[in-house]
Amino acid sequence: RLEKIWLTFGLAMLFVFLGILGISAFAMGAQPPSPHRHMIDPTRVQETAPFDAPGIKQVADGEYEAVMIAYAFGYSPNKMEVPAGSTVHFTITSPDVIHGFEIPGTNVNLMVIPGEVSQISHKFTKPGEYLILCNEYCGTGHEYMNTVIVVK
Ligand code: CUA
Repeated sequence: RLEKIWLTFGLAMLFVFLGILGISAFAMGAQPPSPHRHMIDPTRVQETAPFDAPGIKQVADGEYEAVMIAYAFGYSPNKMEVPAGSTVHFTITSPDVIHGFEIPGTNVNLMVIPGEVSQISHKFTKPGEYLILCNEYCGTGHEYMNTVIVVK
């Protein structure tokens, strides 16, 4: 009788243990460590898609994709334009050192790490000229490093 109780208890524990294992494996499989970042070879940024063709293009109604490179000391492309109300999906990396990617007055603020592809989206509702600035000290030209996105 006692053996039967222990056997049942043992089996129950085994199922609990397997259950936990299964759940954690599922959670890890379903969630990659950082869904919005992945690595490329920083020495081959200009040859690696989509960075072989930096620029902004419309991808859907009211949606744009901006492929950008932050380098010492500037951004490519160096000027962009979208209609007011557009959502812009930025994809950006660096071929050299760590740069910043900040659009003052918005919540866009990224650290751009060499070879790491970062993505952030922002909806530009108000027309105006939005400055994109580097806020990580990256060398002698740091303070001149900027670009602009014009919202019309
Ligand atoms: Cu790039 Cu500071």
